[in-house]
Amino acid sequence: MATPHIAADVGEIAKTVLMPGDPLRAKFIADTYLKDVKRFNTVRNMFGYTGTYHGKPISVMGSGMGMPSIGIYSYELFQFFGVERIVRIGSCGAYTADLNLYDVVLAEYAWSESTFAQTQSGSSEPIHITHPSAELNRELEQIASKLDIPIHKGPIHSSDVFYRTSLDHVQEIHAAEGCLAVEMESFALFHNAKTLGKQAACLLTVSDNLITMEETTSEERQNAFTKMMDIALGLA
Ligand code: HPA
Repeated sequence: MATPHIAADVGEIAKTVLMPGDPLRAKFIADTYLKDVKRFNTVRNMFGYTGTYHGKPISVMGSGMGMPSIGIYSYELFQFFGVERIVRIGSCGAYTADLNLYDVVLAEYAWSESTFAQTQSGSSEPIHITHPSAELNRELEQIASKLDIPIHKGPIHSSDVFYRTSLDHVQEIHAAEGCLAVEMESFALFHNAKTLGKQAACLLTVSDNLITMEETTSEERQNAFTKMMDIALGLA
């Protein structure tokens, strides 16, 4: 079976899918952590792989950057491929000096100025907050605690814009909405999961701090991924 963006058979994709933004990171995760790996998607080079972790099936696939992209892939995985749980594993920019580079953030909910949720569901009212699955978040928190990996749980900002003329807005969103950090995908992922009766969650690694202006290189980010990966793979 093929959807416009995923060419795979239904049984080729596991019930749980981990989604980094970068398809090459999906490949790296499959190569590094999974056994008996089979690639199930190459459409647009948005690679997806299924393998086993400690003998249990799990898939990993790139989501691309931004809400339109993860909106498409998560919808197709949930609706047409029998996927039940998607965990986004990404990077974020911290909105508070209290977060250090490489800290792990678990999204309590996503706040956004995006019209994705309103448009997707044809709502007459604006929707600014979407929630992850409470059950999935509980599981992720338990795994992190067992592995002794500290996590920061709080609201996050899903933004449509990476490059801004001014960072004033950042302070406002932190103050008004309490968002700990910014990324660009979770709001849409959470909305799709809720709309389709599925589960989603989001784990993030701090890659830059918009208050202290510390940042990491893309190479460092790749390596710093481990803590977040260990937690997410615990779901298998
Ligand atoms: N903005 C948006 N998304 C991000 C950022 C950022 O500064 N850092 C990592 N993901």
